[in-house]
Amino acid sequence: RYLLSRGGPLQGRKVVVTAGGTREPLDPVRYLTNRSSGKQGYAVAQAALDRGADVVLITTVDGLPWPSGARRVAVATAQEMLEAVLAECQNADVLIMAAAVADFRPATAAGQKIKKEGGAPTLTLAANPDILLEVARQRQRLGHPQVVVGFAAETENLLQNAQAKLARKSLTLMVANDVSATDAGFAVDTNRVTLISAGGAFETLPLMSKVEVAEKIVDRIVEILAGTEE
Ligand code: CTP
Ligand code: CA
Repeated sequence: RYLLSRGGPLQGRKVVVTAGGTREPLDPVRYLTNRSSGKQGYAVAQAALDRGADVVLITTVDGLPWPSGARRVAVATAQEMLEAVLAECQNADVLIMAAAVADFRPATAAGQKIKKEGGAPTLTLAANPDILLEVARQRQRLGHPQVVVGFAAETENLLQNAQAKLARKSLTLMVANDVSATDAGFAVDTNRVTLISAGGAFETLPLMSKVEVAEKIVDRIVEILAGTEE
């Protein structure tokens, strides 16, 4: 069999990326979600493809240009995303959790459309699983993935909050994202991030396109895998 090698520093590496906000059903026609567009996750998937990785993109989003060559796993809820992530991570080298996972879901989803005659319902929420915490548990057993990257979108105390999350979730790298300004974060094409590594080193990047941020993140992962991170 003739295989045309794509080459690149991530050749032979399996990279799992999640993107988009999860959708938590209230009834058959309604759901709770958040403002994540999925753009940063799609850009990360593309940057990993460009460096030769085998990429699995676990996504809640339709309608963004598909990173050509990535394998698509479509999910809606946090629970579905958890199952897909744990399955794909069994033989993955890298997980990048760019998805905005809903922390809470409606405790019950009505089987039929909720009718307005009954008056405004009171929503009872239940906590969703923390996917990165479950990955940390599986990773202790399996040793995979070697590199786990999280994102922290914060409106205040960016670095303290992000560093605490990095530690709690046993991450290799945290991408701390300041979403207090309107030129960065949700639904725009630019992001303002600080990369925090497990060793505690900080690198604050200027306002950049999400494509450029993705390239910085993936290049840092390449360094970590090669053992040449500064
Ligand atoms: N995350 C996850 N599972 C969840 C919630 C979040 O895996 N149920 C991941 C996100 O994909 C992200 C990282 O955890 O990579 C940080 O998400 P964030 O919402 O900032 O942190 P939380 O731990 O949910 O804390 P809080 O929302 O209370 O700030
Ligand atoms: Ca959260």
